[in-house]
Amino acid sequence: MTKKVMNWTGFSKKSLQERINLLAEKQLLSSENVDNLKHNRQLPLETANQMAENVVGTHSLPFALAPDFLIDGKDYQVPFVTEEPSVVAAASFAAKIIKRSGGFTTVIHDRLMIGQAVLYQVPNLKKSQKDIMTQKAQLLMLADKAYPSIVKRGGGARDLTAEIKEDFLIVYLTVDTQEAMGANMVNTMMEALMPLLEELSGGQQLMAILSNYATESLVTASCQVDLRFLSRDKAKAQTFAHKIELASKLAKTDSYRASTHNKGIFNGIDAVVMATGNDWRAIEAGGHAYAAKDGQYRGLSAWAFDQKQQILKGSLTLPMPVATKGGSIGLNPSVRTAHDLLGNPNARELAAVIASVGLAQNFAALKALTSTGIQAGHMKLQAKSLALLAGAKEKEVPTLVSQLLKAKHLNLETAQSILQNLRDQESGTKIGKS
Ligand code: HMG
Repeated sequence: MTKKVMNWTGFSKKSLQERINLLAEKQLLSSENVDNLKHNRQLPLETANQMAENVVGTHSLPFALAPDFLIDGKDYQVPFVTEEPSVVAAASFAAKIIKRSGGFTTVIHDRLMIGQAVLYQVPNLKKSQKDIMTQKAQLLMLADKAYPSIVKRGGGARDLTAEIKEDFLIVYLTVDTQEAMGANMVNTMMEALMPLLEELSGGQQLMAILSNYATESLVTASCQVDLRFLSRDKAKAQTFAHKIELASKLAKTDSYRASTHNKGIFNGIDAVVMATGNDWRAIEAGGHAYAAKDGQYRGLSAWAFDQKQQILKGSLTLPMPVATKGGSIGLNPSVRTAHDLLGNPNARELAAVIASVGLAQNFAALKALTSTGIQAGHMKLQAKSLALLAGAKEKEVPTLVSQLLKAKHLNLETAQSILQNLRDQESGTKIGKS
């Protein structure tokens, strides 16, 4: 199906039905997935009951779209699953500016998973390390034999190393898991190596498990931002660019700030990881471990103001071992819709999209923090949430939001009271007319 080029300006102002109709009209989704959205088709209970234990229901979250990401020369409409107001707005805002500045470019450094088999009570650590490395070819063969289906698909065990850390002898195996995240695959391989590793070392097995510190699945997303998008006033734009660079330096220095800075990055990353049915705990764990790779927890992204070229340059590198096959992917109708919306990318392409989203999210947050402050935009959207919570109908929301933002207390009680006033006025006008 050919996906048509389109203008996304004002997408957020359309009604929910209009948004779905637009996706259908522009052939951005298959008719089955348009139908899934129209009928809000969710994870069936019977499927949910097979996925986790003691199931008594399912749990829903908003499924949204951040349109118009230009990544490596291709347009993406990115599905977000998030409960937090302003995340999708911020990502859309950043995507728009970055597209006009040339878009994102990405580099996939590699896509291998790492497993570890840990031995203890090893009588002679150094000798065992040497003996294991001598048997590397046989161990790689054993790992492949434990999971032949991945070898048939072109993947399999790629490398093996042994390291001594304190009293432990740790054997690391890197595995090409193709389109899968590969946790089961790697765990099966690691367990299969254990008997021979025990024999070679004379030690005891402690554990055999995949590592979520996926340093062999790194991806880098980069972008440039034209200064004119920071402010129409050149001097102000330069000040904002300089402040964004300082914000990035601060996150590299102060772990308290780094944690919030990275939380902002994961606002976007988690939303896409969840939408695409991936394991967000694994991605979070890997990302945070990578943020502390030199011993101090630091911001994951870097921004620099290039005075000569008058552009702001950003980049983000982190492990992104996402999958497009396996796990719960394929079981959940919303997950299928998410993959379709992205054009059914492969695992590497999906990783590139997710890293770009992380960088976009970070840009929007830093831009807001170093200019108007986070509350201005956040509160606008918080007000919208309160309006909906108060029971406002779609056509009542804009007026209620604008009055709420002027109110002294931004809370549910105020929202309910303003809504009541609006409805009283409306029925008064109607009575007046009749
Ligand atoms: P604005 O300048 O008022 O936006 O910014 P606008 O109304 O002029 O609209 C511009 C574009 O933004 C729109 O274009 C949309 O693309 C998007 P259009 O569609 O009109 O052609 N946009 C929206 N998209 C969907 N729904 C909306 C919507 N509004 C605008 N309702 C904005 C408003 C919120 C974008 C801006 O203030 C912003 O980016 N703020 C940052 C918000 C943020 O980062 N939120 C995350 C939660 S806070 C947090 O947890 C992270 C943090 O702590 C991380 C850190 O410290 O680093 C901040």
